[in-house]
Order: sequence, then structure tokens, then C-alpha cells
Amino acid sequence: MEIIRTVEWMKQTSRQAEAAGRVIGLVPTMGALHEGHLSLVRAARERCSPVVVSIFVNPKQFGPSEDFQQYPRDLDKDRALLENLNVDYLFVPEAEEIYPRDFRTSVHVQGLSDKFEGRVRPGHFQGVSTVVLKLCEIVRPHFAYFGRKDAQQARIIRQMCTDLNLDSEIVVRPILREPDGLAMSSRNAYLKNDDRRAAQILFQSLDAVRRKIATGAREAGSLLDVLRSTIASERVAELDYAEIVDADSFEPIHFLRGNCLILVAARIGATRLIDNVLVEEHGGNFAVSL
Ligand code: PAF
Repeated sequence: MEIIRTVEWMKQTSRQAEAAGRVIGLVPTMGALHEGHLSLVRAARERCSPVVVSIFVNPKQFGPSEDFQQYPRDLDKDRALLENLNVDYLFVPEAEEIYPRDFRTSVHVQGLSDKFEGRVRPGHFQGVSTVVLKLCEIVRPHFAYFGRKDAQQARIIRQMCTDLNLDSEIVVRPILREPDGLAMSSRNAYLKNDDRRAAQILFQSLDAVRRKIATGAREAGSLLDVLRSTIASERVAELDYAEIVDADSFEPIHFLRGNCLILVAARIGATRLIDNVLVEEHGGNFAVSL
């Protein structure tokens, strides 16, 4: 695995691969890699060569009172994990490489970026869209891989790629979960002792909704009641939002139909976590992917 630290070298390397007719896969990350990330890398490995993984803790997607400084970083460990998966290139630019002193541009995918995570974290999705556009332009991947845990992020990036005619296809992969159901996330490292146990409540609340759907319930209000009351049963959990939305528009829906997402965000002590399930309609039947 070659480590690349400059934009120029990453560009040259990718352009050569493209000219040689190779299929480039990109897995953009902020490091602190877990099995969820590794599942994206494996998916890229199956279809692409070379596989590029980027590790860049993007300052523009953190608010002033957020955890940019504390965000977990362990490059040596990440590097070993990626070596193991036969990644071809690890792109690890410094902040000044991505955002030189006179950097002025910001990408805003209107509407989709302003609700849910975007409302709670103003500017977050502009930061994400801007860096992903830059990474897609530097690497020019044929396929770029994202996890469904950040479902709103994946939807926004897909919209950006369509709107700006990028040639990269966005691939969204399933959520990976710990044995107790907690969705894998680099921020789970913040959960200590009792908070780690309490964090199960997000999965449990979504699983309770899944069971309610299996009994034939279709009305969003009653499904959300189940979700909210499950979260409320955990003393240290504080619900931020819970909503059932159309998977495409992210507009709330009243009855299950088509493809929708059940979104939940909650604080467990000082740690803010998000999770979701995908509900897909097949001929009047609903399949729930946790
Ligand atoms: O999901 C993430 O880790 C980040 O938001 C991403 C897509 C790498 C952009 O910084």
C-alpha cells in the first residue's frame, strides 16, 4: 500500500490508473476505522482496482463546539487494517493540502442539507459536500463507497453527484452492528461504562418499530410512539429527533409507502448517536433492514 500525502501526487496516480483503463474505487473516511469502514473497503476491493482509501478529519464539517480536537485518530492502526485488505493507495492529506490559506468555496445541496442532522449541526453538510466533491475530483473514482448509517449524508452526496454531473457512482452499503445492535461508529469510542450499555437503546427502539411493522402497523405516528417510548425507558438517553421519511426526499410521511427511512438521533450522556432502518415496499409487503 502506497501512502500519498499530496493532492498533486494523488491526482497523478489516479489519472494514470484511469488512462490504463482501470476501475478506481474510493472509500472516503475520517479514520478511526471499524468493521463498518472495512466492509466498504471489501466491497470496493471486489469491484475496483486500484482501491483508494482517504483518511482526513475534515475540519469544515465540525461546528465550533463539536469534537474536532477530540475526534479519535490512530493512523498506525488504520494503516495496518488497510494493508491487510490489500488497499492500493492510502491518501492522508494535511489540512493545508485540502484547504490552502485562500480557500473560499463551499458546496451546499439545498433542502436536503438543512433538516435533521443539518438543523442540529449547521454547516455540517456543506463541510461534507465540499470535501467529498474535492476528493471525487482529486481521485476521480468510478465508484465511491459510503455507509447507510449516515443515510442523510449518503443521500446528499448522491444528489451532489447528479447535480454536478460527476462521473462517480455512489454506492451505499448496509449498516454494520455490534453484537448488541449498536451501529458501528468511530464515535462509539466515546461511550464509557454505563453509557455504552445505555447506547443499545437506539437499536432496541428501531427493533421495536420493526416488530410493530411485522404486526401490520403502517401509520407513522403509532410507529414513532413505539420508538419514542422505548428511548424514554432509558434514563440516560435524551431523544434529539425521531422521524419516518421518504428515502428520496427526506420529507416526513404519514403512512409507510415505497422506500422510507426511520431516523433516530439521541444523546447518551455527552455522546450524540444516530441510527436508522430502511423500510422497502415490495408489492404491498414491507422489508425492514436494520
Ligand atoms: O462519513 C465520514 O466519515 C465523513 O463525513 C466523510 C464522508 C469521510 C467526509 O469527511
